[in-house]
Amino acid sequence: MSKQVRIAVFPAGGLGTRFLPATKVIPKEMLALVDKPVIQYGVEEAVASGIEHIIIVTGRGKGAMEDHFDHSFELDAALARKGKHELLAVSRGVSSLAQISYVRQKEPLGLGHAVLCAKNLVGDEPFAVLLPDDVIDAEVPCLKQMMGVFDERDGAVLAAQTVEGEGISAYGVLAGSEDPDNWRIFNCTGMVEKPKFADAPSKLAIVGRYILTPRIFELLAETKPGAGGEIQLTDGIKALLKEEKVFGYIIDGKRYDVGDKFGMLQATVEFALKRGDLGPPFRAYLKGLAL
Ligand code: G1P
Repeated sequence: MSKQVRIAVFPAGGLGTRFLPATKVIPKEMLALVDKPVIQYGVEEAVASGIEHIIIVTGRGKGAMEDHFDHSFELDAALARKGKHELLAVSRGVSSLAQISYVRQKEPLGLGHAVLCAKNLVGDEPFAVLLPDDVIDAEVPCLKQMMGVFDERDGAVLAAQTVEGEGISAYGVLAGSEDPDNWRIFNCTGMVEKPKFADAPSKLAIVGRYILTPRIFELLAETKPGAGGEIQLTDGIKALLKEEKVFGYIIDGKRYDVGDKFGMLQATVEFALKRGDLGPPFRAYLKGLAL
């Protein structure tokens, strides 16, 4: 089995109920963070990490994502006619970003089930999973950091971050111990999806980036519905842990949950402040607010 991670799976079949009413018609992955759809941040991270093939697991009403990454003939022709070359480059850049395949998740049965839908497209090689709701701002792309760990160690790698207090119950939580050689690496012995605060085995929450081996597909096919009545990826990885090594990796970067209204607001402010064009006037505007 090749050790190179060439394929990334983006589960994007979910309903996005946390962002209603905005997501009644528009897929949550297409909501704009400043001026770019949320899913494009993840796709750009994957490409910058060396991924060659992207698989987006979609669902009913999610067609806008396919249109977004396709050529936009009328738009491009209109921009060319008007001499708007910079905007034309932006539009063309999106459609030539990556080689993308789509597969439909026919029922929203959970994250584990969404990943299982990509089985035939992935085949028998290690692959990455990126959850589009988790946008990660990092100097070295988060997935690239994880690929380094995957190369060095023999086992699956799950991105993680420390979460203090009751908020831990919103995540998959790792059990295990810190690696003696590298504080960013956590040797997993177990994991629990969305535990009660009192039952959380650690403060280390799973962030939406994974590098998995293809054995996970067989295990997910046998995984019964867990937390929330859904087939959980965490439960599949827990089964994988009985056969292969699994590592947590404390990411070097800042993660935003843009599937959540508050998380989207935080990301919007921080990403806009970092922009060369918008940053200075936006900072001046914020300073002028009587907060
Ligand atoms: C999913 C995973 C969870 C992980 C989280 C990270 O949960 O099931 O283990 O911690 O993503 O964002 P969701 O946020 O889809 O409920």
